[in-house]
Amino acid sequence: MNEFDRRSIIAAGAGLLVAGTGAKSSESSGKEVGAVEDLMREHGVLRRALLAYRNMAAKLRANPANFDPELLGRTATLFRTFGEDYHEKKLEEEHIFPLLRQAGGPAAAYVDTLVAQHRRGREITDYFLGTARKGAIGSGEVETLAYFLDGLDLMYAHHAAREDTVVFPAWKNILSARQLEDLSELFEEIERRQFGKDGFEEAVSRMARVEDALGIANISQFTPPLPPNA
Ligand SMILES: [Fe+2]
Ligand SMILES: [Fe+2]
Repeated sequence: MNEFDRRSIIAAGAGLLVAGTGAKSSESSGKEVGAVEDLMREHGVLRRALLAYRNMAAKLRANPANFDPELLGRTATLFRTFGEDYHEKKLEEEHIFPLLRQAGGPAAAYVDTLVAQHRRGREITDYFLGTARKGAIGSGEVETLAYFLDGLDLMYAHHAAREDTVVFPAWKNILSARQLEDLSELFEEIERRQFGKDGFEEAVSRMARVEDALGIANISQFTPPLPPNA
């Protein structure tokens, strides 16, 4: 490679970096995280919280003595601060749903249901936080708590799957490349304002600690055995 080629490549790289400043950069790598990837990886954190809930429901039903209210409290607190107060209220309800409503179409038809599910999710989180604060689960409460742990899990599995495949792609389609970059930047600002740091990385490590305590950190335990021969 001659000096001219080398310089052209360096200049092109610098241009890309400048063009990319509107998008969020992840501390460790300096690589961009755009608004949609941001939203979807937040769903990943929430999915991990829901898998923790699913494990708690199974423990409650199998042997309530193995259920730890403190872990319910920690998971519900993360769901509240990261999922409800930030992802749902500050991003989806303020910046995504209003635009989709205006644009109309199949994705807009989901918005009322998604908002109603956010609201119901908050009510269920209130119930989890209240239950965790009491510190002990009475035998009469076991099935009700397990029912709502599973219920929230099922609701959000459907909810986030529709957002990932219909709502976010439709939202991205409405926006110009420039608008999307600006919103990626804005989302980063909101995250910093809300958490004072990288809220995503902190949420991932908090979930990892809950998973450790629940005994679900090693995911190889969830690989099923070989199926029977057909
Ligand atoms: Fe949502
Ligand atoms: Fe969402």
